[in-house]
Amino acid sequence: MAENLSQLPDLGFPVKWYVEGRVRFMAPAFPTTNVGEPQAPTKWPVFYNPYSALSRDLTVVLAKTFDRKAAAAEPLAGSGVRSIRLLLETETISKALMNDVNPNAVKLARMNARINGVEDRVELYQGDAAAFLVSHSVKGSRLHYVDVDPVGAPSKFVENSLRAVEDGGYLGVSATDLASLVGNHPEACFRKYGLHSAKTFFGKEAALRLLASFVVLRAAALNVAAQPILSVYRRHFVRVFFRISRGRSRVIKLLGSLGWIQACSSLHIFQHPLESHPATICPSCSGKASVVGPAWLGPLHETATVEKMFKHADEHPQAFKTLQKIADELPVVGFYPVDQLARAARTHPPSPSALIVKLRSAGFNASLTHVDPTGVKTDAPLNHVLKVLA
Ligand SMILES: C[S@@+](CC[C@H](N)C(=O)[O-])C[C@H]1O[C@@H](n2cnc3c(N)ncnc32)[C@H](O)[C@@H]1O
Ligand SMILES: [Zn+2]
Repeated sequence: MAENLSQLPDLGFPVKWYVEGRVRFMAPAFPTTNVGEPQAPTKWPVFYNPYSALSRDLTVVLAKTFDRKAAAAEPLAGSGVRSIRLLLETETISKALMNDVNPNAVKLARMNARINGVEDRVELYQGDAAAFLVSHSVKGSRLHYVDVDPVGAPSKFVENSLRAVEDGGYLGVSATDLASLVGNHPEACFRKYGLHSAKTFFGKEAALRLLASFVVLRAAALNVAAQPILSVYRRHFVRVFFRISRGRSRVIKLLGSLGWIQACSSLHIFQHPLESHPATICPSCSGKASVVGPAWLGPLHETATVEKMFKHADEHPQAFKTLQKIADELPVVGFYPVDQLARAARTHPPSPSALIVKLRSAGFNASLTHVDPTGVKTDAPLNHVLKVLA
C-alpha cells in the first residue's frame, strides 16, 4: 500500500513516483543538464534506468521458477526496485539483501521497501559490494540468488558474487561496457576481462559469449561451475544468468565449452579448441581474421530453463517476447547479418525470415537471433547460404 507522500522523509534531492511491474516506488525526478536534456542515470543522486526494465522482468521470471523459498542479494542495488520486485512479484524470494555504496541509494531503497510494505523482508547495507559479498561467502550464509548489475563492467564484482551463491543457486550478471565486449575497444576488454575481443560481423553475440566465458573462468578458479542458462542482449546491456554448483568434474566439463572464434570480413567463421590458438589469417580466404576468446562456445540458453520461464512470463509481455525469440534460436556460434550476406552474394538483402524459409527448404536449420533483427543463424555452410541467396 502506498504511503502518503507527506509522511515520507526528505531525501535532499527531488524524487517522483515510478511504476514498474507491481512496484510503485520513488526514484530521482529526471534531472536535466543545463541545456535541458535529461541527464544520464549515472549522474543521478540515485541510479534508476527505466530502460533496464527487461533485465528486471527476466530476473523476476527466472526467480519464479525456483523450486523453493529463498533469499536474494543485490550488491549494487540503486533504488532497490529489482529486489522489491522480486519480493512482491514472486512467491519464491522471501528475503532480499540490498547493498549500495551510495548512502542516498540505501536511504531511497529503505523508503521504497517501506512504501511497498516489504520492510520486514529486506536487509539494507551501505558499503562496498565486495565486502558485502565476502561477508556472505561461507556455507550457511550464502544466498540462492545474487544479482550483479553495475554501470560498466561487472568484472570486479564477479568473483565475490560467486563466493556468495549457494550450491544449486543462481547468479545474474550484466555488463554495459558494450564497446569493450563487441570488439570496438579490445585493449579495454583485455584490461577488464583478460579476454580477447575483436570486431566481427556478430559482435553482439560475441559480447554474450565473452561475458559468459569470463564468469565460467572466474568460477573455475574457485572450483565453482557456472552454467550459462540464459543470455540476453538489449539496447545498452548484455546479461547472462548462471546456475551455480560446486565440484571439480562439473568445472572441467564446463571448461570444455570454451574456445576461440576466428572470423574474417568475408563472413567465414571457425571455432578452435582452447589449446590451439588460431592465426589471424582466415584459413578459407587468407584474408585478415579476428580472433575472439576464450569464449563460451556452448549453448547460450538452457532449453529446460527457458521453457519453465515461459510458464511464468504471462505478466511480463516484454520478457515473454524475448524468451520466445530465444527459444527459437539455433545453438550455433555466430549469425550472418543479411546486408553483409547480400553484399557477398552481389544481390539485394533478403528479409531474414524469407532467407530462413529458403535455408530450411534446402534442408538446413536456420533461425533469427534476438540480438539483431537483421541476423540469421544457420548450420548451413557459407557457400550454401550464398547459393540460396543468389
Ligand atoms: C546500475 S546501478 C544498479 C541498478 C539496480 N540494480 C537496478 O536494477 O535498478 C549500479 C549501482 O552500483 C552502485 N555502486 C557502484 N560501485 C559500487 C561498489 N563498489 N559497491 C557498492 N555499490 C556500488 C552505484 O551507486 C549504483 O547504485
Ligand atoms: Zn575468410
